[in-house]
Amino acid sequence: MKDKSIIDGDVIVIGTGIAGVFTALNIDTKYSVILISKTTIEKNNSRLAQGGIAVSVDKDIHFQDTLRAGCYCNNQETLKILVEESSENIAKLMAYGVNFDRDDRGILKFTREGGHRQNSILHVKDATGREIVKILDEEVKKSTNIKIVENVFAVDLITEENKAKALLCIDKRGKKVICRGKAFVMATGGIGQIYKNTTNDVIATGDGIAMAHRASVEIRDMEFVQFHPTALYNPKGGQCFLISEAVRGEGAILKNFQGEAFMGKYHEMKDLAPRDIVARSIFTEMKKSNSPFVYLDITHQPKSFIKERFPTIYQYCLSQGIDMTKQYLPVVPVEHYVMGGILTDIDGKTSMEALYACGECACTGVHGSNRLASNSLLEGIVFGNRVAKAISKYLCEYSINNKVSGLSIDFYPIEKINKSNTSIAIDNFKKTLKNIMQNQVSIIRNKTELQKALIEIKKMKEALEKNQKEIISYYELNNMLTVALLIIEAAIKRRESVGAHYLVS
Ligand code: SIN
Repeated sequence: MKDKSIIDGDVIVIGTGIAGVFTALNIDTKYSVILISKTTIEKNNSRLAQGGIAVSVDKDIHFQDTLRAGCYCNNQETLKILVEESSENIAKLMAYGVNFDRDDRGILKFTREGGHRQNSILHVKDATGREIVKILDEEVKKSTNIKIVENVFAVDLITEENKAKALLCIDKRGKKVICRGKAFVMATGGIGQIYKNTTNDVIATGDGIAMAHRASVEIRDMEFVQFHPTALYNPKGGQCFLISEAVRGEGAILKNFQGEAFMGKYHEMKDLAPRDIVARSIFTEMKKSNSPFVYLDITHQPKSFIKERFPTIYQYCLSQGIDMTKQYLPVVPVEHYVMGGILTDIDGKTSMEALYACGECACTGVHGSNRLASNSLLEGIVFGNRVAKAISKYLCEYSINNKVSGLSIDFYPIEKINKSNTSIAIDNFKKTLKNIMQNQVSIIRNKTELQKALIEIKKMKEALEKNQKEIISYYELNNMLTVALLIIEAAIKRRESVGAHYLVS
C-alpha cells in the first residue's frame, strides 16, 4: 500500500457534529487530531438543531425534568455530571464566540420546550445548532493540531485483542485509506435515515453504531427511538423540516383537524409535555380523524415577534406557501433522535480499549427512554469535553509506559471482497428498509409487526452480504440494516412500554 493511503494521528475523531468538533478542540494541543467527515465538515445533524441548548439554571429542576422525561430509565450518575458540568461547557462555547440571544439589557434570554418546568434553554434565534457549529468549525480551522480529512468514509475499526488500533476507510473513488491512531472517538451522530421520515440529514445512517457493533463493542438501549412531534408535513416524506419545540415554548398550540386544542386531554403539561407523549398524542389524533397531519397554531402572536424569533422557520414555511403569522402549520411526528447507542462510562470510554464515543451515537444513559428537549447539544459538549480530557490523560499515561512505540499496523490485509455478478439495487433496498421502519417500528409498536420487520430485514441483510461491493452506498446500507436490526431486536426484548418504546398488543 502506498504511503499516501495511510494517515497517522494521535487521536482519530470520526464525525464533525458538535460532539466530534468539541472533543477535537478540547484534546491537549500537544496531540495531533485527525477529524474525519464522510462528506464535509459542515454537513452534520447538529447544524439542524433549532431550539437551543439546555442549561442547568436550577440544577435540581433540570435533573428532575430530565429524569421524568426519560421515565426514570436514565443513568443518574451521568445525568448528574450533565447537570453539574453544563455551565462550564456553555461558558466555553461563549468564550469561543457563540452569541446567545440577550434582551435589551444584555441579559441572556432563556426559553422553554417540552418537559421543562422552567425557562432554561439558551438559543440563537431558531438556528442555535447552526450558529454553534459554525463558530466551532472556525476554531478547528484555526487550530494547529487538528487536521480535517473530508470525503473519507469510515468502513471499520481495525482491532487487536479488544483494542482499537486503526480505522479502515475509503474515499469517494473507492481508494482505501487507513487512519492509524492511539485513541479513537466515535462521534458519528444519529440513525434517522433508516426511517422514511426524519428530521436528520442524509448523512445520518448510524455508521458509528454499526461499526462498533461489528467490532463487538457493547451497544445499549437501541429500542428508544425518539420521534419529534412537529416536523412540517411533507407529502413526499424523506428529510422533513423541523418546526422547533421552541415554537410551542413561545405559545403555539397543537390543534386537530376539527380545530380543537387536544393536548389537555393527554397530559397536564399540555403542548409542553415530554416529546414521547406529545408525539403519541398527535399520532392518536391523526388516526382518529384519518388525517396525515395535525396543526400547529401560533397566529395569536404578533407578526413582528414571530419573524424576529423564528426567522429560519418563518422563511422556510413561506417558501412552502405557508405564512405562519396567519396560517396554521401542518405538522407530523417524524424520527429525530436515538437515545441508545455505543455504551460509554462517565468519560465516554466504551467497552473497547482506546475507543471512546460521544454525541448521539453514544449511550451515556443521560436521556433514559426519552430525551428531554435541548439536552442533546448539551450532552455533546459535556461528554465531548470529558472524552477529550480522558484521552489526553490516556495518551499521557500511554507514553509514560512507552506503550505508544510501534503502531503495529503498517498494512491492513483487506480481505478480497467476493463481488457477485448479480447486482442488488441499493436504492430500492434503502427504500424498502425505510418503509418497514416507518410502518412497523414506529411510535406505537406491536410484537407481531416487530417480528415481521425482523424477518424482512434479516433477509435483506443476507441478500446484501451475498452481493458485497466496495462502494460507500453499499457500506452505508449495510450499516443502516445493522442498526435497524439492533433497534428491532432490542424492541422485541423489551416487554413493557416505557418512554419512546410504546407497545400495544
Ligand atoms: C427542537 O428545536 O425542537 C429540537 C431540539 C432538540 O432536539 O432538542
